[in-house]
Amino acid sequence: MKYRTMGKLGIKTSAFGLGCMRFNGAASGDFPMDEQKAVSLIRRAIDGGVTYLDTAYVYLNKTSETLVGKALQNGYRDKVTIATKMPLGSVSDRASMEALLEEELQKLQTDHIDFYLMHGIDKEEWEKFKAIGAPQFFDDMKRAGKIRFKCFSFHGPYEDFEYILNDYDWDMVQIQLNFMDIENQAGLKGLRLAGEKNIPVVIMEGLLGGRLSNAPENVQALYDAFPVKRSPVEWAFRWLCNFPEVAVVLSGCNEPAQIDENLRIFSGVEPGVMDENELRLMENVRQAYLDRTKIDCTGCRYCMPCPNGVNIPGIFSIWNNVSLYCTDPAKDRGLARIRENGAGADMCVACGACEAACPQHLPIIDQLRQAWTQLG
Ligand SMILES: NC(=O)c1ccc[n+]([C@@H]2O[C@H](COP(=O)([O-])OP(=O)(O)OC[C@H]3O[C@@H](n4cnc5c(N)ncnc54)[C@H](OP(=O)(O)O)[C@@H]3O)[C@@H](O)[C@H]2O)c1
Ligand code: SF4
Ligand code: SF4
Repeated sequence: MKYRTMGKLGIKTSAFGLGCMRFNGAASGDFPMDEQKAVSLIRRAIDGGVTYLDTAYVYLNKTSETLVGKALQNGYRDKVTIATKMPLGSVSDRASMEALLEEELQKLQTDHIDFYLMHGIDKEEWEKFKAIGAPQFFDDMKRAGKIRFKCFSFHGPYEDFEYILNDYDWDMVQIQLNFMDIENQAGLKGLRLAGEKNIPVVIMEGLLGGRLSNAPENVQALYDAFPVKRSPVEWAFRWLCNFPEVAVVLSGCNEPAQIDENLRIFSGVEPGVMDENELRLMENVRQAYLDRTKIDCTGCRYCMPCPNGVNIPGIFSIWNNVSLYCTDPAKDRGLARIRENGAGADMCVACGACEAACPQHLPIIDQLRQAWTQLG
């Protein structure tokens, strides 16, 4: 295992951090895995050198922290740092923040949380957190030794990221990044901004929730043609670890073999590990994925709201994801929600209002029909 210094914090961490959000299930779903198996997966990772665990109050229907607490008995707590999160939806004032933190400490069976994150905030939520006194609360809890570092996780647009990052004295940030998301959310620009401030960055969704672990044919052909053979997972992690600003790459694992594979991969990667040929390969891989795009919808939503309620960008997003990655774990849930809301393409009456508004001049009506048929 390679260990990295966490920017201005100066502490060392394993480059591989274990994500405790899924264990074969959806983040907010019921706990799906035999508890003993999940505990042994966590301990296997720690025994292999992992020193960073990521969980959250809401994961696995609020059971993930309890599971992590159980896994960290018998001396394991002292071997790791724990990151967990406070969701805005569960707190409304100082008293509820205090109560929530106490509950998390109890579930984790610990007297302190190493990295305490405001969970998945954008600018609007940050302002709400500020309004209920969360920054002061974080400062106070840090002084009291209940949390070590003040952090946030982020899935919003870059402009929000820049605003939030510059608005408070953060110790760490957690962003989504992988070779397909370089211009999405905080993106590479956000990574570099945090790096300039020497704020360590923890990466989530490095495999896009597992979607990058199985390459479609045109992508696999590129990997196969490269002189050095590596799995798609290794290429994805190697690409991330090449950045000096990256402190930890989180990976959610469901099988012992995945833990072992990731332990192996993360023992051989450090900043600057990729040469020019490898970087070119990853650019070509990214392009090969993008070549599979069904429709160049940017998600700008200028076409919305559709007078008949059709969720135009939502349908196009699922259609593109399914084509790019062959499979989209969010497809069934996403389509079910669209149907429940009466927002399917079958509601389209071909009025043309969306096509008149679309800055990309997309043939929306025809493409909606095709998408709906192909998505079944
Ligand atoms: N704060 C937030 O808002 C937020 C949001 C997202 C994630 N996170 C954190 O980030 C962590 C990581 O993100 P993630 O779980 O969404 O996505 P991820 O790490 O991109 O993908 C996880 C999936 O990758 C696959 N995988 C892992 N190692 C593998 C290997 N060696 N070979 C083949 N497949 C492998 C597994 O897929 P299979 O299921 O197919 O086996 C696993 O479910 C989470 O666990 C969570 O702690 C936080
Ligand atoms: S053409 Fe169809 S999708 Fe577009 S605005 Fe009209 S009803 Fe909605
Ligand atoms: S206006 Fe066009 S590009 Fe924008 S979301 Fe609608 S379909 Fe996509």
